[in-house]
Amino acid sequence: MAIVFYLSLLFYLVVYATTKYAIIPHGVSMTCHQRYFMISVNQHLVGKNISFEAVDGNGSYSITEEYANKCGYSLRTIHFKNRVQLRASYFSCHTDEVDKMYTFSFNLVAHDKEDKVTHALNRTCAPSLPWSLREVTCEVNYMEVSVRSEIACPTATRRNDWDNLKLAHGNSSADWQVTFQNGGEQFPPTSINEALGEGYVFDLTSDRLVFRTPYGQPHSFTSVIDGVPVEVVHATLFSRQSWLVLLVDLVAACSVYKATFEDEGYMSWETPDVMYPGLHTTHLSFGLDGNLMQPAVAKTKGYVIEKYNNTVEIGIPYDAAGSDRKSVVSGGLYESYSYDFYMEQLSVDEDGIETRLRTHRTMRTPLLMRTLLDENRTVLQEKHFTIYLGDIPQDVELISLTLNEQIFQVPFTNISAFSLVKVVHPNDTHGYSLKVPFYNSPVIQQFSTDNIEFKLYINYTLMVTPENNPFQHKAFFMATIPDLDPPQFDASCSESLISFKLAHKPSNSKWEFTVGSDPLTPELASSHGFAMSNNSQALQFDVPLLSDGYDNKNFSLQGFEGTFEIYVRDRETSQIQSSTVKSCPFLIDELLVCSTDMKMVALVNLTLAVVSGEVPANMTLRDRKCGPRQSDDTKALFTFPMNGCGSTVKLGKGTVTYENEVLYSEKFVSEDADRVFLQCTYPVMSLHRLFSVKGFESDTPGVGRIIHTSESAAGLPSTKAPVSQPQPHPRPHSSSRYIKFSEFKTQQLKLGGLGGVRALRNKKRLT
Ligand SMILES: *[C@@H]1O[C@H](CO)[C@@H](O)[C@H](O)[C@H]1NC(C)=O
Ligand SMILES: *[C@@H]1O[C@H](CO)[C@@H](O)[C@H](O)[C@H]1NC(C)=O
Ligand SMILES: *[C@@H]1O[C@H](CO)[C@@H](O)[C@H](O)[C@H]1NC(C)=O
Ligand SMILES: *[C@@H]1O[C@H](CO)[C@@H](O)[C@H](O)[C@H]1NC(C)=O
Ligand SMILES: *[C@@H]1O[C@H](CO)[C@@H](O)[C@H](O)[C@H]1NC(C)=O
Ligand SMILES: *[C@@H]1O[C@H](CO)[C@@H](O)[C@H](O)[C@H]1NC(C)=O
Ligand SMILES: *[C@@H]1O[C@H](CO)[C@@H](O)[C@H](O)[C@H]1NC(C)=O
Ligand SMILES: *[C@@H]1O[C@H](CO)[C@@H](O)[C@H](O)[C@H]1NC(C)=O
Ligand SMILES: *[C@@H]1O[C@H](CO)[C@@H](O)[C@H](O)[C@H]1NC(C)=O
Ligand SMILES: *[C@@H]1O[C@H](CO)[C@@H](O)[C@H](O)[C@H]1NC(C)=O
Ligand SMILES: *[C@@H]1O[C@H](CO)[C@@H](O)[C@H](O)[C@H]1NC(C)=O
Ligand SMILES: *[C@@H]1O[C@H](CO)[C@@H](O)[C@H](O)[C@H]1NC(C)=O
Repeated sequence: MAIVFYLSLLFYLVVYATTKYAIIPHGVSMTCHQRYFMISVNQHLVGKNISFEAVDGNGSYSITEEYANKCGYSLRTIHFKNRVQLRASYFSCHTDEVDKMYTFSFNLVAHDKEDKVTHALNRTCAPSLPWSLREVTCEVNYMEVSVRSEIACPTATRRNDWDNLKLAHGNSSADWQVTFQNGGEQFPPTSINEALGEGYVFDLTSDRLVFRTPYGQPHSFTSVIDGVPVEVVHATLFSRQSWLVLLVDLVAACSVYKATFEDEGYMSWETPDVMYPGLHTTHLSFGLDGNLMQPAVAKTKGYVIEKYNNTVEIGIPYDAAGSDRKSVVSGGLYESYSYDFYMEQLSVDEDGIETRLRTHRTMRTPLLMRTLLDENRTVLQEKHFTIYLGDIPQDVELISLTLNEQIFQVPFTNISAFSLVKVVHPNDTHGYSLKVPFYNSPVIQQFSTDNIEFKLYINYTLMVTPENNPFQHKAFFMATIPDLDPPQFDASCSESLISFKLAHKPSNSKWEFTVGSDPLTPELASSHGFAMSNNSQALQFDVPLLSDGYDNKNFSLQGFEGTFEIYVRDRETSQIQSSTVKSCPFLIDELLVCSTDMKMVALVNLTLAVVSGEVPANMTLRDRKCGPRQSDDTKALFTFPMNGCGSTVKLGKGTVTYENEVLYSEKFVSEDADRVFLQCTYPVMSLHRLFSVKGFESDTPGVGRIIHTSESAAGLPSTKAPVSQPQPHPRPHSSSRYIKFSEFKTQQLKLGGLGGVRALRNKKRLT
């Protein structure tokens, strides 16, 4: 039961999807105008591929181009608005007229791949404007003339009428026949049916006789009236019934002036003021999109109306309300406007017979260059560019932009310092406001002694929709601010040094760079062991770990944190204006710091010193109360006053050496085990306050050595990276020397006074 229901529902859905007659869809509007009926379809909502069929009691008729020309239909696609319009004449082939009520029935067919959905549309219109005796419609694709079927006989008989009478007399048929005249030439008469085969339509409604013809038929001709080309078709219908001959003259004349675009920004179109000899125009009105305005009103909207030499010239402002605009890419951004121009001319002849001429013309401007607005809204104090790109038409989108060669997609993501904001205006344009900071951005900086110039080259990539045609728009902006701020070095850490770098710029000459109070010169660099280079681009120097000037702290079993600072001073006043401080963590195996305030900080590797079953935590200095501050399986960190914890003092030639040892409590020192001595050596000169009451300090840090007595067969000391850092100048350095323990006690250390921190390691079997 359930399955049966399901199947029948499925069947119903399949049938529904592939067959016809959905209700009037959204996006379809139907309007009765005074002289035509219009269906407007939004392709977004209904479908891209749509077509129309005219419907009457006998069936449906596909409206092809040819059929439209013949039967009184006009189709127009407005690409910019994604809109298709069908205009139908009140006298179109399949219109049903009952008592001045006109019923239009159409099928709107939307093709979607295999599917075809048909929407039945119908509407009855009753135009309120009475029909004139003669009505002429110059549609875009056909000319149509209708006359009231009972007309009072005109007063004068023209020569041509006698010719027609002769024609009528020569034919015995009572059927209606037609003859065309081409200027002076008269074509032989044909039957109405034959004329139909040639694309002409003659029709008789309840009270009007209608004649319709496409443009460019063999019987039509172009004449130039007052300088304006006019296409004319002159048909005469006649019928002889015994002694009575009926003649109806049907003349359609339409201006086929090709609208031109004037440099002043007008689309200009011309028509003769008097289209038919003997008539004079009494009324003129015109507008766009099916609207008619009196000339006085049109003038207030910027239209130009001029009459000269019996010619009416109308100038439509290029961006008039009701125009359709389209962006086009052709090496740059262009635009084209198109207009659905509509005009009515009322005229009367000497008999007071009124002729109403309605003209539809589709006009299009050539490609006009469209300029976008580049605006510099930068406020220097904000330290960023504010750039506005405006007057972007609705059918153009910004896709990406390059800022000094660096590409950014729109919308911006993840670039917090930059911003791009879209601004939409009521006049169907939009713009983008772009903010790019002067610093830390792709902005180019150029320096002079007193100023910094910021340069921003922008290359916008925009795209015209819906065709998705891209084009580029370029702009350049510059801002200048005084260069007053002291420079900052770029600093970076590496395993065993800190690198400082400063790009040269002219204003740097106002500043002096110092380490402490010493100016940074090649001499200072070489004496302190900095690797300094100064090329045309930048000043760079690398400060090796343990060089003078470091501030070291946070000692731990892993190493310590080294901090180095460079001052920027005003060259004239020597005042410190700013500084660059960089702290880096350094991992190290061993080190010994002999500070000016007479403290030792020792990180020692006790791998070889521990006796089996013991741990570094249980090792002490000579004073067994002095244990390590931190320790692990192999290392211990001691911090203690120079002259405490059992340290001994030895005087050398001009030096004072403090020594202590790391050992086990209670245990006899084994000959096999490594013995570890810690030595700090100060020049005597720097210890002038050694015996002063105020304190115990040194002018310079001491030189430290960690001496391991354990041997290595090769005998050469194994040194670790920080210690073996190449020094730019030769200096006594124990770490590179091989010291016998026996010599050690009397060794006169001649170490330079510069090293604040020394980590030394000597290995030697006890002899
Ligand atoms: C529109 O649909 C018709 C009928 O299915 C098909 O012949 C035609 O190729 C389609 N046109 C486009 C542009 O898809
Ligand atoms: C249908 O066709 C017949 C025969 O051609 C014609 O007489 C009749 O007027 C047509 N009906 C409509 C509504 O056009
Ligand atoms: C027009 O359409 C409506 C509803 O779709 C329908 O009720 C009406 O009968 C139709 N009229 C004609 C003349 O087709
Ligand atoms: C009379 O009419 C018939 C049919 O329309 C046509 O074939 C014939 O040429 C006409 N005769 C003259 C003299 O125009
Ligand atoms: C009007 O016609 C006269 C004479 O034919 C001619 O000289 C004049 O240039 C015309 N004026 C315009 C605006 O075309
Ligand atoms: C933003 O950045 C984060 C981390 O850098 C990344 O994971 C994410 O994908 C980015 N988002 C976009 C939209 O680029
Ligand atoms: C559109 O409006 C904006 C804001 O009022 C204005 O700045 C801009 O010039 C206008 N653009 C055009 C093309 O009229
Ligand atoms: C501008 O950007 C586009 C797309 O990124 C690129 O193809 C074009 O070469 C650029 N033009 C210039 C002058 O940089
Ligand atoms: C942009 O505006 C700033 C601030 O008003 C000004 O200093 C600068 O000269 C301008 N740059 C350009 C290229 O117009
Ligand atoms: C580096 O060289 C520049 C010239 O290239 C010079 O002006 C500057 O004083 C030098 N700096 C140092 C610290 O030697
Ligand atoms: C400690 O010294 C031993 C023996 O010289 C060595 O094997 C070990 O790698 C050192 N420990 C560290 C952390 O360097
Ligand atoms: C270290 O010393 C403590 C107390 O002096 C003792 O209890 C401990 O066993 C010793 N540790 C080792 C591994 O010898």
